[in-house]
Amino acid sequence: MEYEFNLYNSKSQIIMVHSWVRWLKVEDIRLVCVLGCGVMGSGIAQVCAQKGYEVHFLEKNKDLVDKGLSSIRDSVHTHLVKKGKMSEEEAERALSRIRGTVDMAEAVPGADIIIEAVPEDLDLKRRIFATAEKYSREETIFASNTSSLMISEIAANVKRKDRVIGMHWFYPPQVMKLIEIVRGMLTSDETYNLVKEFSVRLGKVPVTSKDSPGFVVVRLISGFLADAVRCAEEGLMSIEEIDKACRLGLNHPMGPFELLDHIGLDTYLEIYEYMFRATGDPRYRSPITLRRMVSSGYLGRKVGKGFYDYNLK
Ligand SMILES: NC(=O)c1ccc[n+]([C@@H]2O[C@H](COP(=O)([O-])OP(=O)(O)OC[C@H]3O[C@@H](n4cnc5c(N)ncnc54)[C@H](O)[C@@H]3O)[C@@H](O)[C@H]2O)c1
Repeated sequence: MEYEFNLYNSKSQIIMVHSWVRWLKVEDIRLVCVLGCGVMGSGIAQVCAQKGYEVHFLEKNKDLVDKGLSSIRDSVHTHLVKKGKMSEEEAERALSRIRGTVDMAEAVPGADIIIEAVPEDLDLKRRIFATAEKYSREETIFASNTSSLMISEIAANVKRKDRVIGMHWFYPPQVMKLIEIVRGMLTSDETYNLVKEFSVRLGKVPVTSKDSPGFVVVRLISGFLADAVRCAEEGLMSIEEIDKACRLGLNHPMGPFELLDHIGLDTYLEIYEYMFRATGDPRYRSPITLRRMVSSGYLGRKVGKGFYDYNLK
């Protein structure tokens, strides 16, 4: 297909970008590469493997590769096999589709879509996409699972910005149905349609947002979570009571402190810092308690301590 778009340089002269490009169809997708196999990346890798895709994931070191693989194995056995939702054989088939590595040169080549799930740090996301691009095929799609960073900013160091898109999953990815798709300024219709159809093939329900800090869902929940922390700081209720009030009074499946512990306090602090910097809106000023807890290593469930204590195996 011939692909053409116009860009303007600093002197407002039109630069024609004109090339022949092959666009993938959803049925062409075979290999998914997941960058980062933490809270979200491990769940995303699991969902893709369960749906029959080959999955490569990239981690920082060998221990984290092993940790990622064992957390996926645990999740499949605890939530699917033991509950009779999947046979042992199906589980082993799905797990055999997943390969972890520390080497970008093994993870990326041949991937049809790259789903980035490294920490919420704009520089890191820009760098990892720019490096991945060097190993990728011309038609590979670059999807970011960022919760809040603008896709047009993440795409800054990628040459083929028309293939960069937001694919915002929700925790836990194995269970939550929603995917918030975010179009950057230069995301092509082809990329958008492909990621939308791919989300449906994964059993998810996509909604689409324009590019803006926090998109829609995180923008809505961020003010609420910060207010919950401030209510506790003011001593209006204990954190347990606020959680109970939200579960029983608002019908939320978990209270705000339980949710913050699940998401990761470090992740939320990054979200507040970016959203406040980008918008200046005081609703997104991070509560002091959150900052104090993150500096002291209270990052939530993933480390066994946050607003609550967790017994890790
Ligand atoms: N936690 C949530 O509930 C949630 C929900 C939706 C979206 N997100 C977004 O997903 C992304 C990841 O969040 P998370 O909660 O999974 O974080 P996490 O800290 O649990 O996982 C990030 C993983 O990336 C790995 N990593 C870091 N640098 C890397 C590198 N250079 N190469 C390879 N791997 C690297 C880390 O070792 C870690 O395992 C963030 O952008 C976050 O905003 C999180």
